[in-house]
Amino acid sequence: MEKEILFKDFLDLLEMTEVYLKGCFKPLEKPSDAGGKETEGEISRGISRREAELSHLEEEIRVCKLCELARTRTNAVPGEGVFDPLVMVIGEGPGAEEDATGRPFVGRAGRYLDKWLDAIDLSREKNCFIGNIVKCRPPGNRDPKPEESSACLPYLVKQIELLKPKAILTVGRISSQILTGSMQGIGKLRGRIYNYNGVPLVPTYHPSGVLRNPSLRPYVWEDLKLLKAILEEKITKKDLY
Ligand code: URA
Repeated sequence: MEKEILFKDFLDLLEMTEVYLKGCFKPLEKPSDAGGKETEGEISRGISRREAELSHLEEEIRVCKLCELARTRTNAVPGEGVFDPLVMVIGEGPGAEEDATGRPFVGRAGRYLDKWLDAIDLSREKNCFIGNIVKCRPPGNRDPKPEESSACLPYLVKQIELLKPKAILTVGRISSQILTGSMQGIGKLRGRIYNYNGVPLVPTYHPSGVLRNPSLRPYVWEDLKLLKAILEEKITKKDLY
């Protein structure tokens, strides 16, 4: 009898392991077949396959339940801006105002970020797309946990692939570390141009960090000038770090 119970426990354990492993791989598979093709209506409105896939991906993000953050969010925040942007800006995760509105960078830090972009003739209305590493607000604005970032990352990877930005600007330590694959602090990471799958990537400080510490402003300006040089094609692939 005791043996039978042990054997049953062993089978339960195997099943739990299988469920766990399937769960782990699910987020990686999900976004890549997000909605697939454009519908007939989309074709008749001149919407490309990439644009259709992006909007299907956004719908998926809005109802996502891949991590714990889904339980405490008000709205998921897929990101916003133009298609085929010059620059994709990537932050960390939504704060209170972003959670309330479902839009990225709309609080104080966001208004400051808009000023940075405007200084080099960029904006979310005209030529940028703004997104985040995690699409749902971490409670109390804590850092996203590694398992939350990795559950959400495939959405961002797919967004970059579909949007095809000319350059990427990561703001803050978290998005800069994740997309450069380096664990160095933002003070060490910034000041160089990295290569993200062939797309030039410029890391800089997070606008909320610069609001707290205005002595960082000259560094941000240096980084924005690097970004501008990429857009003006003064930087070639061989200049990437
Ligand atoms: N901070 C971020 O990193 N992202 C937002 O969307 C808002 C604030």
